[in-house]
Amino acid sequence: MSKKLKFLIIAGARPNFMKVAPIIQQICRYSADVANHGVQLEYRLIHTGQHYDEKMSDIFFTDLGIPAPDINLAVGSGSHAVQTAEVMTKFEPICEQEKPDWVVVVGDVNSTMACTLVCSKLGIKVAHVEAGLRSFDREMPEEVNRIVTDALADLLLTPSVDANENLKREGIPDSKIKFVGNVMMDSLVANLEKARTSPLLGQLGLEKKGFVYVTLHRPSNVDNQTGLSLVMKLLGNIAKDMPVVFPMHPRTRKMCEQFKIQLDEYKGLRIMEPLSYHDSLCLTDTARFVLTDSGGLQEESTYFKTPCLTLRPNTERPVTIEVGTNKLTGLDQLSADIEDILQERRPPGQIPKYWDGRTAERIINALLVESGLEMEKLNICETFFEEKGFEFDNNLFPLGITS
Ligand code: UD1
Repeated sequence: MSKKLKFLIIAGARPNFMKVAPIIQQICRYSADVANHGVQLEYRLIHTGQHYDEKMSDIFFTDLGIPAPDINLAVGSGSHAVQTAEVMTKFEPICEQEKPDWVVVVGDVNSTMACTLVCSKLGIKVAHVEAGLRSFDREMPEEVNRIVTDALADLLLTPSVDANENLKREGIPDSKIKFVGNVMMDSLVANLEKARTSPLLGQLGLEKKGFVYVTLHRPSNVDNQTGLSLVMKLLGNIAKDMPVVFPMHPRTRKMCEQFKIQLDEYKGLRIMEPLSYHDSLCLTDTARFVLTDSGGLQEESTYFKTPCLTLRPNTERPVTIEVGTNKLTGLDQLSADIEDILQERRPPGQIPKYWDGRTAERIINALLVESGLEMEKLNICETFFEEKGFEFDNNLFPLGITS
């Protein structure tokens, strides 16, 4: 008789969609082979509706080939307390009705924390994908979400070795921590070809390596009038030398309106609506450099080895600085940092370990192992190790080789 595992997969905001897509695809791939291994995987995709605009949500479902959500909680925007409470109130009955074996949450948005909190009270197991990242800055709402989610989750699936260290320091037992790699890179690798054939550069009249790609939306950069005005002025100055493409997040646009910052005064800036996934990857790949405060872009630019300046005092993704092409910057040092890039004074960067497009496989394997269903582990793991040219050692999996 075949065994069954049921997952609820949570997606709420833009940066979640590229993380759930590979997990869903891997569940489907695995399920197609049920006759072989005897384990049936079932999933429901729950969209909390934290992001709801076509350009912040629907377009990613299309680009990434994600099936329509089974359930949409349609929580929308609100203060942190309101948004979190709305997700919790609407998610609790779904859990009671669906009775999943696991709830899989990704990233660090309000929806991630809210669903984890509900499950921990109901005794439902939670797997957190992208666990263990820390900026050590509790003024960031995401940092609070990360700490709470990791404290409550049952399985902590980490994207980089530093995340394992953070969790251990917080007293989380080794047995709960699995280094699986960066699942965002699965989506990136799978969509490279489409990104590289995007017509966007031609449409915007841009040359490869001849423009700057900017995204800014963090409250610390955009929710303060003096700061946001200064950012816009500096971007205007950069645009005098090189085209600056700035797809604007709805939060940033809303704050510009509130502070009466006239966007049409910044003539050199190409301010536009948020981009699709493929178009954003295309710009990240081909920009002279990226200026951002997004977590995802720090990682994607690292993969493409495109220089990245992160307009923040800290990052929860230090591996992008240690081995990648990322550097933290501030308004007072931005010009000098840009000059370093233009004068090629920055190191070339490498791709971190396990950012290889195979993370979803390791996630599903870890979930099977944690559920006591280990039969597939050898198949996938052996293939993976053989392809990488490593000697296969069953005892190292699923923690992987952490050295
Ligand atoms: C959220 C995440 C952040 C992530 C970002 C990516 C939290 C605490 N923050 O921030 O970690 O980096 O998503 O985009 O979870 N809005 C729209 N349309 C939408 C969604 C939002 O117009 O589809 C506007 C609303 O005015 C809303 C504002 O953007 O009030 C902020 O949205 P919210 O979901 O609260 O946070 P983000 O800034 O998007």
